[in-house]
Amino acid sequence: MNDLTIAMPKGRIFEEAYELFVEAGFDLPKEINDSRKLIVEAPNENIKFILAKPMDVPVYVEHGVADIGIAGKDVLLEQHRDVHELLDLYISKCYIATAGLPNTQMNEIAPRVATKYPTIATNFYKEKGEQVEIIELNGSIELAPMIGLADRIVDIVSTGQTLKENGLVEYEKIVEISSRLIVNPVSYRVKRERIKEFVAQLKNELHKR
Ligand code: PRP
Repeated sequence: MNDLTIAMPKGRIFEEAYELFVEAGFDLPKEINDSRKLIVEAPNENIKFILAKPMDVPVYVEHGVADIGIAGKDVLLEQHRDVHELLDLYISKCYIATAGLPNTQMNEIAPRVATKYPTIATNFYKEKGEQVEIIELNGSIELAPMIGLADRIVDIVSTGQTLKENGLVEYEKIVEISSRLIVNPVSYRVKRERIKEFVAQLKNELHKR
């Protein structure tokens, strides 16, 4: 019987999270990597994995359909979900920054900022005392300054390659990001021993790195 359900983010974070789990000694089924299945069981571990969009992981954990999840700090800062952050996994490291065309100022009359992180962007400019219009996009944010939709973007920078290849430059670093282990507060009470054991196994691997 599976006694733990874990929401894993598909895409970029998945590779590093998968590697961390395997190196920590968890016996994961091959199909978690190789198939398009969205629910995969690891019978030797009594764990069920839900493969979700990164932005949706905290939703599953908040609602308790997953006990545990792996979520980027970017998603946690953006969403303010009712989940506990248990552990920094030190994977998928990157940062959020403002960027735009080189040698440009913000438009003085109607400055516009494109982002898929409206909360983080709003807080950043509020703290600076600058009033900006936030334009929310779902991806390919770098397009916005290139085609005149916005003066600046607020987005993830990992290698910096996307900015470079599109002729954009970074202006301000906002916050460092890495993936975190999050837990549903009720699960953490009810399954405390099981979750502690799981976390200890991960921590053991993290200490070796
Ligand atoms: C992210 C981010 C940047 C890019 C940064 O986008 O939004 O566009 O990665 O990575 P780099 O610094 O290594 O170039 P992602 O690929 O997740 O897709 P998206 O544009 O659909 O958000």
